[in-house]
Amino acid sequence: MKKLQRTVADKLHGWLEGIEAEEILKLMEIPSDASKGDLSLPCFKLSKKLRKAPQEIADLLANAINGSLDSQSGIAHAESLAGYLNIYLDPKVITPGILRDILDAGEGYGSHQEGIGKTIIVDFSSPNVAKPFHVGHLRSTVIGGALVRIFKFMGYECIGINHLGDWGTQFGKLVVAYRLWGGPGRLEQRAIDELFSLYVRFHEEAERRPELEDEARAVFARMEQGDAEMLEQWRWFVELSLSEFNRIYELLGTSFDHITGESFYNDKMDRVITELQERDLLEEDQGAKLVRLDDYNMSPALMLKQDGSSLYHTRDVAAALYRKDTYHFHQAVYVTDYSQSLHFRQWFKVVELMGYPWADQLVHVPFGRVSLEGTGFSTRKGNIVKLEDLLQQTIAKVREIMEEKNPGLECKDEVARQVGVGAVIFNDLSSNRIKDIVFDWEQALSFEGETGPYVQYAYARICSLLRKGREVSEVFSQSNSIEELHLPESEEYALVKQLSLFPHSVESAAVKMEPSIISRYLVDTAQAFNRFYHHCPVMDAERKLRDSRLLLTEGVRITLYNGLKLIGLEAPERM
Ligand code: ARG
Repeated sequence: MKKLQRTVADKLHGWLEGIEAEEILKLMEIPSDASKGDLSLPCFKLSKKLRKAPQEIADLLANAINGSLDSQSGIAHAESLAGYLNIYLDPKVITPGILRDILDAGEGYGSHQEGIGKTIIVDFSSPNVAKPFHVGHLRSTVIGGALVRIFKFMGYECIGINHLGDWGTQFGKLVVAYRLWGGPGRLEQRAIDELFSLYVRFHEEAERRPELEDEARAVFARMEQGDAEMLEQWRWFVELSLSEFNRIYELLGTSFDHITGESFYNDKMDRVITELQERDLLEEDQGAKLVRLDDYNMSPALMLKQDGSSLYHTRDVAAALYRKDTYHFHQAVYVTDYSQSLHFRQWFKVVELMGYPWADQLVHVPFGRVSLEGTGFSTRKGNIVKLEDLLQQTIAKVREIMEEKNPGLECKDEVARQVGVGAVIFNDLSSNRIKDIVFDWEQALSFEGETGPYVQYAYARICSLLRKGREVSEVFSQSNSIEELHLPESEEYALVKQLSLFPHSVESAAVKMEPSIISRYLVDTAQAFNRFYHHCPVMDAERKLRDSRLLLTEGVRITLYNGLKLIGLEAPERM
């Protein structure tokens, strides 16, 4: 579609004095309603520049186009309607080009070169050591992981970093608690559960024995100074937590280029404090050091505690400076829920005040909360959601559904994993990221709704159709088959157009940092395929029609495969 849009824009440019083809290209829309044409130009946006009424511009262009039609251009006709120029394309001319693009590109279909030579950092997932991996971290993992793949598909060098929460006063508390009440056996066995109970117990006891807090602070201060004994203890907590997190990452298929937690920046913090002092930005307040942000309507950013230990802000600033020096990023993206928005606005401002012009390359990508209302997993005090259990139970539910729907299926366990995990991931990406969402089994696992299983099921049916097709048809080995396409039905054309939109959808997902654009695209595409399949017989059609429909189906398979992969879902060939 892009190529065609360009051709049309060049053509229109010839009739519009003083308007560049590039500008026309930017204004051109692809109406979602087929009765408004295949391409549309909102002429009121050119009105001021051309000093003409929108209707007049639309009339002029429609007449010019209709007066110069030739059968090769791909344009069928144009109309002027309510200030819009609507262009109708000729399905016979444009369909072969679209399908050829898809089949030639294969796994590269939908990719771009925009990002070549530029680096984007995505800081995502980032759970906290010794605390449960919760649904917020899951959503960050899913959105961040999708963004990494989308940026790579856009041509960027993209680096995914897990900014593990492995540093801070709470580790002093844990060491103290472990020494008082912990035991190695229990810790090995219960890992994060044990660490978390120790943490909870610490807070309970500290209410009666405030001196525990002082001890904890002293321990963390020793850690920051590099005390080997304290660090050894701490390292064990980190390893135990990571091995639990890694099981979740493995289930989700998530990987990172670097797992460099907050502790990684321990020796990079002095630079931040020194530079802040040099710029006269640090103010002392009851022994603590902070940067005032009153001028920007924000509360101050706390940089050093009374005892000189660092804070979440300090470590984020240190990490940003290090990452800029190391990766020379074009953008650094942070994926967390919106409750941290102030935190990011504060320290982005601190970086700016420190005189770094690239502060505007730091981007917070916030998302809404997830509630587990319908699962019995909802968080009550003392009943912490074990995300791993949630995933495993979802897989088990899908396994039951498979048993019912397709008892003869081989590798049921494998498929149940792909579909169960896919359902959870897709649910996180089902609406705009900023929206709060509910995880509800019935909804997420429905094979009919706008869900992961729905798209995966369409994919599996397509694969099965193609397997049958390959047995009887030569079309996949013939080189000139696309030239002879015959796809007369409107459902076919609608599907072809839908496929042609995939690259646009990838691009807007990248620009808006909104992977849900791709999940919605996939649902629309699966629906367009189902409408086509319902209306147009494939295997029973006469040879030429059958072969054309098989090629179209292969185009759908490639597109769905690429889209599913981008958002982190596997594409089961049978289900
Ligand atoms: N560990 C933090 C949390 O669980 C998220 C860290 C996000 N990344 C960052 N660079 N601050 O809330």
